[in-house]
Amino acid sequence: MNMQNMVRFRDALSNAKNVLILTGSGISAESGIPTFRGAGGFWRKYQAPSLATPEAFATNPSLVWEFYEYRRKVASEAKPNKAHEKIAAFQARSFHEDRNVTIVTQNIDELHQRAGTKDVIELHGSLFKTRCTVCHDIDVNKNIPICPALEGKGLPDPNIMVSDIPIEDLPRCRKGNCKGLLRPHIVWFGENLDEHVLDKVHLAVEHCDICMVIGTSSIVYPAAMFAPQVAQRGIPVAEFNLEATPATKHFKYHFQGPCTITVAEALEL
Ligand SMILES: NC(=O)c1ccc[n+]([C@@H]2O[C@H](COP(=O)([O-])OP(=O)(O)OC[C@H]3O[C@@H](n4cnc5c(N)ncnc54)[C@H](O)[C@@H]3O)[C@@H](O)[C@H]2O)c1
Ligand SMILES: [Zn+2]
Repeated sequence: MNMQNMVRFRDALSNAKNVLILTGSGISAESGIPTFRGAGGFWRKYQAPSLATPEAFATNPSLVWEFYEYRRKVASEAKPNKAHEKIAAFQARSFHEDRNVTIVTQNIDELHQRAGTKDVIELHGSLFKTRCTVCHDIDVNKNIPICPALEGKGLPDPNIMVSDIPIEDLPRCRKGNCKGLLRPHIVWFGENLDEHVLDKVHLAVEHCDICMVIGTSSIVYPAAMFAPQVAQRGIPVAEFNLEATPATKHFKYHFQGPCTITVAEALEL
C-alpha cells in the first residue's frame, strides 16, 4: 500500500461533506461469498452468471431456484467482515460530523445492512426478497429453505445432473389468492435497473465530493460507469481492489490488497 497516498486520501475524506461508497462482490469475498470471476464463479457445471438470467428462469425455474436456495444459504450463514463493519461505523460517526455517506452496492447478500449500514442502495436487488411473476408483489423472505420442496436442494456438487421440482412446489405468492410463481427480486443479466434506484444513484454521483469504489471489477454495466463518471467531474476516487481494473486509469487513488485491510486502514478513526 502506498502510505503517502493513504495519508492524503484520509485527509481528503475527513474534509468531505458527501461521500459515495460503491461496492461489488469483492467486499464480500472475505466473508466467504464467492465472486462471479475466477474459481468461485461455478455452480455445478454451470457458470454462475448463466443462471442469473430471465432466459434460464423461463427454461428451468427449478434449476434457477436451486441455485438461489444455495446462494441464500451461503449468504445467510456468512458474517459481515471488517470492511462492512468499518463502513457502517464510518457512516454512523459521519452523522455526528455533518458528513453524508451514501452506500451503493451491486451485492445482493445484505451484509452491509447486517453490519448496521443505513439506507443501502441495492442496485441489483436482494437474495432475501421475492417478486411475484403474476401480480409483481415484492415480499421479504428470509426462510431457509424458502419452501419445503427446496429443503436440502441447491447443493453445488457438479455430479448432480437434474433439477425437476414441479413448478407448483416452487416458491409461490402469498398475497391474497394469487399463488403466482415467485422469482428472486434480483436484476438479472440482460434486465434493466429500477429507475427510482438509478435516480438516487445519479443524485449521489452528481453531489459527492469524494468516492470509494470497493471490490468491483468495473465491467458489469451500468454500475461500472458510476465511479468513472464521478472521476470525470474532477472528484477524487479511490479504488480498493486485489488488482487493477479497466477503470483504474480514471482514478486518483488505487489501494491494492484485500479490502478488509485497505478499507479498514482508510476508515480507521
Ligand atoms: N456477494 C454478492 O452479493 C454477489 C456475489 C457474486 C456476484 N454478484 C453479482 O455479480 C455481479 C458481478 O460484479 P462485481 O463487479 O460486483 O463482481 P466481480 O465478481 O465482477 O468482481 C469482483 C472484484 O472484486 C475484487 N476482489 C475480490 N476479492 C477482493 C478482496 N478481498 N478485496 C478487494 N477486492 C477484491 C476482484 O479483483 C474483482 O475485481 C454484480 O452484478 C453482483 O450483483 C453478487
Ligand atoms: Zn402474486
